[in-house]
Amino acid sequence: MAYKKKKAKPKIRLKSSAKRVIIFILFFLAVGIYAHNQLREINAEYAYQKTYEYKLVQHGYTLEQTQILISKLDDKQLDFLLGVDPEDFLYDLVKEKYFMGKNFDAYLSYRNSHLSYNMETVVASVNVHANNGWYNVSYDANTSLNEKVLVNKFYHLGEDFVPSDLVKVPLSVAYGENYINSTVFDQFMKMHDDAKSQINVDLMITSGYRSYQDQFASYDMYKRRGQDYADAYAARPGYSEHQTALALDIVSLQHTGSKAFSESEEAQWLKDNCYKYGFILRYPEGKEIITGFGYEAWHYRYVGTDVAKKIHDEDITFDEYYAFYIEK
Ligand code: DAL
Ligand code: ZN
Repeated sequence: MAYKKKKAKPKIRLKSSAKRVIIFILFFLAVGIYAHNQLREINAEYAYQKTYEYKLVQHGYTLEQTQILISKLDDKQLDFLLGVDPEDFLYDLVKEKYFMGKNFDAYLSYRNSHLSYNMETVVASVNVHANNGWYNVSYDANTSLNEKVLVNKFYHLGEDFVPSDLVKVPLSVAYGENYINSTVFDQFMKMHDDAKSQINVDLMITSGYRSYQDQFASYDMYKRRGQDYADAYAARPGYSEHQTALALDIVSLQHTGSKAFSESEEAQWLKDNCYKYGFILRYPEGKEIITGFGYEAWHYRYVGTDVAKKIHDEDITFDEYYAFYIEK
């Protein structure tokens, strides 16, 4: 059989003029892509230069500082920063854990009139309204918050406010006739029993619920030694959290006087353990600037176990907690 030779495929040969056209097109395509990319980069750079990140870094803040500033301030406040020298205190202020943008102007003006205060104190003071001066501004206490209600030198209760759920405290755990909120009583009794079994002391309530009129009488007694004296130790009527029935003055059978109790083992035990039962030491040492009252080793406030734990863990006062986590 004859072997058929395969026909060879004809080679496509382009004319040299067509070749030139293709090279020409490819060249312009490459140039076009390159130019497009360059333009995109220039645009991106131009857009970046308009960001606060770029501007603040140019202004003298580090990138890390800038990111914190941007996360906490609004555009108006960032513009303000760009208009003044990047002083250390500005960044130190903004980076404070409890810094709130809404108080920025107030922080600045309070800082200017209290140059010796650190930023933590400036932020805390403004957050709790203490920058206004005690009793100089007054808001209605929000009683619908129940055990989270704040009553202090800026938040007051009406003369007619009487809490519900009052129970009479048995004389076995109280000095004199006292009433407190029923949940608070139950929680106090748990704490009382644990203090007895753990350190063998008998916690005693010296004061629980006080009506507006009771507080009026109490404040009036202090006032005989002058208004400043009274304000240092007692809340004005309507401004005492004893009126909520959530506050307790606690001492022990073993240490009855306030001074003896303050220095006792049970005062320390209460401080360390009260949060487990939903209580906080309401007027801690060194926080007078925030609470408006000196250290009261005996005054405990029920806020519920979750809030008490947070306040314990973060080592803040209830006023600061309320400002940052409730009032916002
Ligand atoms: N001693 C506390 C502050 C009161 O009077 O409520
Ligand atoms: Zn008290």
